[in-house]
Amino acid sequence: MTSYPMLIDGKEMAGSATFTDQDPSTGRILAEVARGHPGDIDAAVGAARKAHERWRRTKPAERARILRRISELITRDREQLADLESRDTGKPLRQARADADVAARYFEFYASAIEVTYGDTIPVAPDLFVYTLREPHGVTAHIIPWNYPLQIGARTVAPALAAGNCCVLKPAEEAPLTAIQLGRLALEAGLPPGALNIVPGFGEEAGAALAAHPGIDHLSFTGSVEVGKLVSKAAAEHVIPVTLELGGKSPNVVFADADLGTALPVVVNSIIQNAGQTCSAGSRLLVESSVHDRVVAELVDRFQQVSLGPGPADPDMGPLISASQLQRVSSYVDLGKGEARAVTGGGPPGDSRLKDGFFFLPTVFDDVPPEAVIAREEIFGPVVAVTAFADLAEAIRLANSTDFGLVAAVWTRDVTTAHVMASEIQAGQVFVNTYGASGGPELPFGGVKRSGHGREKGLEGLLEFTRMKTVAMKLDTATYPGAA
Ligand code: NAI
Ligand code: MG
Repeated sequence: MTSYPMLIDGKEMAGSATFTDQDPSTGRILAEVARGHPGDIDAAVGAARKAHERWRRTKPAERARILRRISELITRDREQLADLESRDTGKPLRQARADADVAARYFEFYASAIEVTYGDTIPVAPDLFVYTLREPHGVTAHIIPWNYPLQIGARTVAPALAAGNCCVLKPAEEAPLTAIQLGRLALEAGLPPGALNIVPGFGEEAGAALAAHPGIDHLSFTGSVEVGKLVSKAAAEHVIPVTLELGGKSPNVVFADADLGTALPVVVNSIIQNAGQTCSAGSRLLVESSVHDRVVAELVDRFQQVSLGPGPADPDMGPLISASQLQRVSSYVDLGKGEARAVTGGGPPGDSRLKDGFFFLPTVFDDVPPEAVIAREEIFGPVVAVTAFADLAEAIRLANSTDFGLVAAVWTRDVTTAHVMASEIQAGQVFVNTYGASGGPELPFGGVKRSGHGREKGLEGLLEFTRMKTVAMKLDTATYPGAA
């Protein structure tokens, strides 16, 4: 069995204890991982603080050069990283490859972005010279989930490092391996020791210690609403900024005039991808009444053709991440059977070859009332809730009828319908006749309502990792004639 260390101050450390990491496709133990405790978090924060003194003074062009090198190394190791991600999370190999490509893109994108990120000058008066500086926060804490460790790790760490921060990253206990590999590649690329520390461990232990550490200057968290609130409270103790990405209950809204042939495969993929364990999963399908029966029939047909298997075998869909996630999804589905009609799926597959993994059949619930639990709560499994709507007004009302607001998609050929929906939907991203834009490092991303606050990705994602300083300089009017 392979052992994975923590990375603190550029050194690999075994830690005083370990935990086991499971392969969700087989239930077997995949690796033994160093279990970070509060003392390790403290050491990592200290190392990041020390590294920050130099890193913040390193020229942007030099920071960019190192980030580009990290991107190149991710690309060099693409197959290895994809294989590891696929085994650790259970996701199909081609999705893991896409994650590696997007992770490489984040480092490339933020390397470029930092070279063209400037402050402003503000013309107040001839004898007052005012300019703004975008400075790094200092030490940034990153708590990431298990669904896209490599992609989310890169998405949060690349802009932080680009802006001159030094990081402590705590991966999720269910899938920490590629985040540790990312830390190793960053060192190989020449990132100074301590600039990116990786401390794997349990949420209530290493995660809680990191969120509560008085030495951090910014916290970014991706995960559940419940833990998002906890870490937000911990950060409030030290009055530091927090970015929260807390998932969603995102709708695909299909109008009768849509190109259904294009829409259907994308609608299916938006919930099948990563077995529905995606923050931006299209977990609700709102469909105009006149095409409802046709759309549901096609959806069911496509769901029944989805192949299940271990991630590395590259099926259409892999297992859920853990026994407890399988339990969680199963109990939502059991509850849903009393609220709506399960028209396909509804439980684990019968296939005996899959019995040791945490597999669940792609499931469609039809005629789901908007107030049903399965229409409002994030299930985080391959389960879609279908609800019909009569007109534009009802489509808007249903789209906005949950506490979440991360992503939405509108399928229509009518430009006015598209504009009205894009304007009225409460979400951080709205897609029209597409979904997700292949990870889209360029596109600002984040939630409204319980989906969180702050933006990642795009230039916005870089600015989140800076704080603005305004400098106002009074000129000597005696030596500057006419300026007074
Ligand atoms: P979680 O919120 O417990 O885990 C996310 C991260 O937070 C992990 O690194 C975990 O170790 C850490 N964490 C847990 N407790 C902590 C604490 N007290 N202090 C600091 N860090 C802590 O999510 P979990 O339990 O793995 O999944 C439960 C549900 O959360 C899912 O079914 C899904 O609905 C949602 N979720 C949403 C994600 C998203 O992408 N927005 C990702 C993961 C989960
Ligand atoms: Mg695992």
